[in-house]
Amino acid sequence: MTVPAAVPGHEGSGRGLFVAFEGGEGCGKSTQVPLLADWLRHRGHQVLTTFEPGEGVLGRAIRSIVLDRANTDLSDRAEALLYAADRAQHVAMTIGPALSAGQIVITDRYVDSSIAYQSAGRGQPAEEIGYLSGWATQGLVADLTVLLDVPVEVGLARIRGRAAADRLEAESQVFHERVRQSFLALAAEAPARYLVLDARAETEALAARIAHRIDTVLGVERVHSGERS
Ligand code: TYD
Repeated sequence: MTVPAAVPGHEGSGRGLFVAFEGGEGCGKSTQVPLLADWLRHRGHQVLTTFEPGEGVLGRAIRSIVLDRANTDLSDRAEALLYAADRAQHVAMTIGPALSAGQIVITDRYVDSSIAYQSAGRGQPAEEIGYLSGWATQGLVADLTVLLDVPVEVGLARIRGRAAADRLEAESQVFHERVRQSFLALAAEAPARYLVLDARAETEALAARIAHRIDTVLGVERVHSGERS
C-alpha cells in the first residue's frame, strides 16, 4: 500500500506556515495554542487557530457523533472514517485556504491524533490509518508539530472534574498509555519536524520554548524564501 507522499506545508506552494499541537488528554494544548497565536500576532503575523474534530458546520456534526458517549455501537472503522472526513473537510475549507493566503495556521490536533487514538488506541493498522489521513489531507503535513507530553495519570487527573468525560476520554488508562507512546514514537521518527515538551512544566516556560522554536522555523523560512526570490 502506498501512503501519499509527505508534503511539508511550506514546500512548493509559497505559502504560510502550518503548526499542529498534539498530545493526550489534559496535556494543555488549549492553553498553549492561544498563547502562541497571541505572541505571533504581536509580531505582526496573520494567524488562524483551529482544531479537530469539529471545525465548521459539518465538523460540528461529526464531532457530536464521535464524542457522544451515547454512541456505544460506533465501530472502530466508522470512527476512523469520521475523523478522516472531519480532517478532509478541515483541510479543504479552512486550513488549505488560510495557508494559501500566507497565514500561519495553528491546529489543535491533526493527523497524529488519528494514528495515536484510532491505530495505537483502537488497534487499527497504522499504515491504513496513515493512508486514510494522507488521502483526506492530500498529503498535507505540518511544518512543525508540538507534542505536549504528559504522563497519562497526570493528564487524566487534570481533566477530571471538568465536563463529563467524552467517548475517548472515558477509555481506559491502558488505552491512553498506548496513545501516549504512539505520539512519542511518531515524534522520534521525524525529530526535525517535532518539538516534544514535558507538559508538566509551567505554562510560561512551555510557551517560551514553543515561541523560541517557532522563531527558528520562521528564520529558516525567511532564508529559504530569500534564496528562492
Ligand atoms: P476534544 O474535546 O477536542 O479535546 P482535546 O483535544 O482537548 O482532548 O476531544 C477530541 C477527542 O477526539 C480527543 O479525545 C482525541 C480524539 N481524537 C481522535 O480520537 N482522533 C482524531 O483524529 C482526533 C483529531 C481526535
